[in-house]
Amino acid sequence: MARSVDPPHIVNIEDLRKAARRRLPRVVFDYIDGGADAEITLRENCRAFESVIFRPRSAVATPACDTRTTVLGTPVSFPLLLGPVGSSRMFYPRGEEAAARAAGEAGTVYTLSTLSGCLLEDVRTASTGALWYQVYLVGGRDIASATIERAKKVGYSALVVTIDTAVAGFRERDVRNGTKELLTRRLGPMFPHVWQFLARPGWLAGFLADGGLMKFPNVVLPEGPMLYADVATALEQSTVTWRDLRWIRDLWQGPIVVKGVHIGDDARRAIDEGADAIVVSNHGGRQLDGVSATLRALPEVVAATNGQVEVLMDGGVRRGGDIAKALCLGARAVLIGRAYAYGLGAGGGPGVSRALQILRTDFIRAMKLLGCGAVSELDGTYVEAPADWHVPTPRQLSSHIS
Ligand SMILES: Cc1cc2nc3c(=O)[nH]c(=O)nc-3n(C[C@H](O)[C@H](O)[C@H](O)COP(=O)(O)O)c2cc1C
Repeated sequence: MARSVDPPHIVNIEDLRKAARRRLPRVVFDYIDGGADAEITLRENCRAFESVIFRPRSAVATPACDTRTTVLGTPVSFPLLLGPVGSSRMFYPRGEEAAARAAGEAGTVYTLSTLSGCLLEDVRTASTGALWYQVYLVGGRDIASATIERAKKVGYSALVVTIDTAVAGFRERDVRNGTKELLTRRLGPMFPHVWQFLARPGWLAGFLADGGLMKFPNVVLPEGPMLYADVATALEQSTVTWRDLRWIRDLWQGPIVVKGVHIGDDARRAIDEGADAIVVSNHGGRQLDGVSATLRALPEVVAATNGQVEVLMDGGVRRGGDIAKALCLGARAVLIGRAYAYGLGAGGGPGVSRALQILRTDFIRAMKLLGCGAVSELDGTYVEAPADWHVPTPRQLSSHIS
């Protein structure tokens, strides 16, 4: 039976997280929820939002609060996009299609991961909204270029090139939960860990009815679609470098978004190699643990890009107020990962829609309480960041693309 994702059951993203934990096997929930190593960066991403304080204008009426904006020329109903989340089909049957559909219905962009469990053509058919395609070079350039060609053909409008995954991050939870053993699909190694699936019969029935797929259908190797079990090795063998970025620039005429920038120097390099937008991202604390929270890194990158490209950020967005803070510090929009992945795990497409509804309603309320009537008016004067963050003055920040 589908569980309710409505209030009073589900009021915020943390409620969706708890609901996902109740529905998913531990190994799947921890794959979404966990981070690398000691999970310092995972926690810091969220904590950084708590360190930024609002400075509202009171006694301002904003009856028609305009949350619309554009990202790379694409109109979005509010400044939030769905970032790439691999293996979403593990969270819910046809997960990527359900998430893309919900994003389209909410008037925003869905980004499909290379490590999707659904065919990119099926995801295109499922959604009426704009779609971006995230690129890893797993399997090599020839495999990637064939997939990029398919994405182009069916109308994905931008490529997101992730540059922070030289190797897969070390996720301790995955080791404890027996991810590697479960991926062998051999009874002996799997046996000590299968209880996790048996403890979630509803999820298991859905997973098996959906084909129990453990392959990436968009990464088509000569021997067939890449297996889940092969992804870590494939990532390590296909580190995306600046040279690859230039190759992708020659291959793809549409917009390119470089995801995984932490510092101003890399932002400038990305622009030199042809990026049209940058995502300040540490992969949600899943790669190098100990890097700065992305909100803290954002102003340096915004200053370094000097208005030449749009700057997006992701990491730790759990409330509408977080979106407002990121925009005040110079982001054009935010991407979310876990916030919608929890919704998908909790209740499929309706769970994703609920996550988006929560964040949008929250964001509008935050804007009204700030006394700010339009997204374009949010700037550094509405927030105070800790003194040791290198935040440019509001005047510098307002020079970013408007
Ligand atoms: C379960 C999961 C899978 C992810 N898979 C990918 C991926 O395939 N490609 C990618 O570029 N980023 C991936 N990410 C990172 C997200 O795109 C995003 O950077 C991150 O989730 C943002 O942090 P947040 O989860 O706190 O919103 C993944 C994140 C999660 C939680």
